Amino acid sequence: PVMEELLGRQQQEAALAQKLGIAHCTIVAGDSTAPTGSLMGLARAARQVLADQLPLGASTVAVMGGHTLATVASVLTPSLAVNRHLLFVPARGGVGESPAIQANAVSAQMAQRTNSDFRSLFIPEQLNTATYKPLFAEPAIHEVLELIAHSNVVIHGIGQALVMAKRRNIAPHVIDDLTAAHAVGEAFGYFFDAEGHVVSKFPRIGVEIEDLAAKQLVIAVAGGAEKGAAIAAYMHLAPASTWLITDEGAADFVLKK
Ligand code: G3H
Repeated sequence: PVMEELLGRQQQEAALAQKLGIAHCTIVAGDSTAPTGSLMGLARAARQVLADQLPLGASTVAVMGGHTLATVASVLTPSLAVNRHLLFVPARGGVGESPAIQANAVSAQMAQRTNSDFRSLFIPEQLNTATYKPLFAEPAIHEVLELIAHSNVVIHGIGQALVMAKRRNIAPHVIDDLTAAHAVGEAFGYFFDAEGHVVSKFPRIGVEIEDLAAKQLVIAVAGGAEKGAAIAAYMHLAPASTWLITDEGAADFVLKK
């Protein structure tokens, strides 16, 4: 029976990857957004995919924020850095999240857990062009932006549009616009509808969705039935090389659609 379950899971992962038009899916048990759900299953699966897929040698790993990614960071261990030299950087500048789940904090925690290096990017969000142009020229900031631009690995979450807009204190009239445009998901500061049309993009600094196709490894970690529509929508924008780590809650939602 164990073998049958394993085969069943592999078939489900292949079916989900095909439906989403991406290379690989990993599905863990449960529903992480259910009241009794947990992000630990997703985090452990992400740890395993990283252990298997991160290239040996030097990598610059750009990471986004969020509760999911913070949980991934919390389960990493120094074994990930055996035969690897890892440098963690935030994939984007500040996004108005609470400090513990900001990309800077998550990348620092990933580095600390794996005895690796990290660099922080201290640029507040929503700067006007006149302010950020000279900031970019500052050597300390320029250097980190270059590291982000040349990162070969990206690990990111996917959020529900309105949940993320509220969490980031986006102005009520902008939230009304997102609702009117039927935004369902958010990733990398892009808000998009169910067909993957970008309805709003916040002018943040760092990795853009268009940059992902050139990366060696792109891992998306997002689960829960509540996030199913957001995950399916994001995959219209994602590069086909994306490796999605999700759970049965989200997978069942997408496969039944
Ligand atoms: O951009 C997506 C969000 O970072 C996802 O956040 O893991 O807290 O749901 P979450």
